[in-house]
Amino acid sequence: MKRLRVRQALGSETPVESIVVKGWVRTKRENKGFAFIELNDGSCLSNLQVIVDEGIAGWEDIARVTTGASISVEGNLVESPGAGQKWEVHGTSLTLLGDADPETFPLQKKRHSDEFLRSIAHLRPRTNKFGAIFRIRSEAAYAVHKFFRDNGFAYVHSPIITGSDCEGAGEMFRVTTLDPASPEACNPENDFFGKSAALTVSGQLAAEIFATSLGDVYTFGPTFRAENSNTPRHAAEFWMIEPEMAFADLTDDMNLGEAFLKSVVGHLRTHCAEDLALFAQWVDKELDATLDTILNEDFARVSYTEAVDILLANSKTKKGKDRFEYPVSWGIDLQTEHERFLTEEHFKRPVIVYDYPKDIKAFYMRLNEDGKTVAAMDILVPRVGEIIGGSQREERIDVLNSRIAELGLNPDDYWWYMDLRRFGSVPHAGFGMGFERLLMMVTGVTNIRDVIPCPRTPKHLEF
Ligand code: 4AD
Ligand code: MG
Repeated sequence: MKRLRVRQALGSETPVESIVVKGWVRTKRENKGFAFIELNDGSCLSNLQVIVDEGIAGWEDIARVTTGASISVEGNLVESPGAGQKWEVHGTSLTLLGDADPETFPLQKKRHSDEFLRSIAHLRPRTNKFGAIFRIRSEAAYAVHKFFRDNGFAYVHSPIITGSDCEGAGEMFRVTTLDPASPEACNPENDFFGKSAALTVSGQLAAEIFATSLGDVYTFGPTFRAENSNTPRHAAEFWMIEPEMAFADLTDDMNLGEAFLKSVVGHLRTHCAEDLALFAQWVDKELDATLDTILNEDFARVSYTEAVDILLANSKTKKGKDRFEYPVSWGIDLQTEHERFLTEEHFKRPVIVYDYPKDIKAFYMRLNEDGKTVAAMDILVPRVGEIIGGSQREERIDVLNSRIAELGLNPDDYWWYMDLRRFGSVPHAGFGMGFERLLMMVTGVTNIRDVIPCPRTPKHLEF
């Protein structure tokens, strides 16, 4: 007997006899002589209505067919007389696969708070909202690969364990071996076979190796940051997509970032329409308008200096109150409130800010003629703020050497990186996009922990 996923069943062109459907019960209504079961198997947001009559094989278990229980039903897919859905299943036999005791099963048919669901992150994908998030996440990963493949980029795998700090911000988690004498204790003497090692904060430096050999490349993998994980936009473990292009400058980088975001949003709108509609209805009433803007309007482009001028000119509200918690002046790192003002209030569309002060940016960014700024760019989007951070890289070995010295980094850690400049150096540029920030943007979900399957926080480390 052929098993149909709920998605296939609901999309069927014709009735189908002798099928099996399997899934988890969302609700059951028992009437005299028959029962209606709403079945979900994770393949789509919608449930499939299953009708079973008293007396069919397995009917004796009907009382145990409760919300959350897993069942298998054999039967026929037939046209549904009721409004709302085209197809339903008339069961000829029912098998209870696993009980879900109504006294203890935590997901009953009502809205649960995100905070509560975070405490049962192992069960939350069985809710409509989190099922939708993780289907969108899966499709978004595909859209990312598709975009780069269609544009001739090669996918490279950058290391997770590394000896160099890409961002130079000291936000790394150390990797240590467990001490065999006392398995609970770590042995910092012996980090990585005698060397100091950490989890990567970015795959960029490795991507530069491959950009300067294969041409256009990208990485897509997990990255780790040991700071800031207590904001709704920062996670200690997140996934990052990092394209890197040879023979490219900052304008090419901005163009790529804009085309990339538009392409992924367009793909998701086509392929995740049902799931996205849930967020537009329940999570963010302006979601459709925001996504329309991202798709259809050119992103605003302003230099950091212009952005600071705009913020200064708007530092007071109409009523004369301070608009920002963090005061603005040339040289500050823009805070989320500043980024959100620029995209949500001032430009009302995504904004690319470029040419940042060198003192707030990483060592590898290309120094501009003015000696004060670097060829960096951040893409800011409504609700989320910074979604992409990138730059043209410093390809001049002498300038890079002096930046490394100026910032007090250890040149020995970067000998191989300097080789890329020593031998056949080329202008090149790239960026990093936080995959979870992208998902926040497309769903309107405001807490990063709700778009990661297993958020890594001190409270959430169980699996
Ligand atoms: O701006 P960031 O730190 O840039 C880099 O790491 C560069 N090496 C990227 C490159 O040029 N190849 O991080 C890039 C993006 C940010 O714009 C943000 O979307 C995301 O990564 N990000 C985080 N997402 C979640 N949690 C965190 N703690 C994040 N830190 C950065
Ligand atoms: Mg950044």
